[in-house]
Amino acid sequence: MGYSVIIPAAGVGKRMKHHRNKLFIELQGQSILERTLNIFETHPLCDEIIIAVNKQDVQDIEQLRAQYTKIKRLVEGGVERQHSIYHALKHIENDIVMVHDAARPFVVHEQINMLYQSVVEGQHAVLGVRAKDTIKMVDEHKIIKSTLDRNSIYHIQTPQAFTKKVLTKAYDDAFSKGILGTDDASLVEQSGIAVAIVEGTDTNIKITTPIDIQLGELILQNMVKRNER
Ligand code: CTP
Ligand code: MG
Repeated sequence: MGYSVIIPAAGVGKRMKHHRNKLFIELQGQSILERTLNIFETHPLCDEIIIAVNKQDVQDIEQLRAQYTKIKRLVEGGVERQHSIYHALKHIENDIVMVHDAARPFVVHEQINMLYQSVVEGQHAVLGVRAKDTIKMVDEHKIIKSTLDRNSIYHIQTPQAFTKKVLTKAYDDAFSKGILGTDDASLVEQSGIAVAIVEGTDTNIKITTPIDIQLGELILQNMVKRNER
C-alpha cells in the first residue's frame, strides 16, 4: 500500500514579488516546482501526484508533465490554499493521502517515510520543528500578555499525512461550516481527531520571500555536499 500526494501549486507568490508564480524560480538550474515533484516522483511509496494549478500556469505545468510518470491530474486552484486542496481531494485514489506545499522543495524521503509509517500505524501526522525563539502573546497594541512555553510550541511544515477518510471529512465539515484553516491538520483537529508531530528539520523551508531563494541555494549546496561524502 502506498499513498497519494496533493501538491498545492496554485498560489501567486505575492510575498516573493516575482513577476509570476514563485514556483517557477530556478534554484541551481531547476525550478522550485520541479524539485518538489522530483522528491515524490522518486519516492517508492508515492503512487500518484495531483497538483492544483492556476489557469495562467496550466500550459507550463502541462509541459512539465512529460518528465513525470506519477502525475495523475492537474486540478484548478482555488481562492485559498484550502480550496485548491479541496479540488484535488475529490480525485484521490489511495487510502493514505499527504498534502505537501509545492513551495517546500527540500523535504527528504526519510521524513516522508516517518509520516507514512505513522499513518499506517493509525496516527495522523505532520512535520514540525520545535520553536527556537521565545514566543509571546500580545494584545492589539502589541503589549505582551504572556510568554508561552517554548518547549510546547512547534512550527508546522508539510507534508501532512492522513487517511483519505479523515481528511475528506475534515474538509467537508470545514466547507459546510465556513471554516478557513491555515493548514490541513487544523481542519482535522477541528473535527476532534488527534494529529501528531513528527520531528522535522530546519532545512524544510517554505520558499516565501526573496531571502528564501538565497537560503534555498545554501540548503541545496549543503545537501549536495552531504550526498557526495
Ligand atoms: N497555494 C495554492 N492555492 C492558493 C494559494 C496557495 O495551491 N490559492 C499553494 C502555493 O502555490 C504554495 C502553497 O500553497 O505551494 C503554500 O502557499 P504560500 O507559500 O503562501 O504561496 P503563495 O500563496 O503563492 O504565496 P503568497 O502567500 O506570498 O502569495
Ligand atoms: Mg499564500
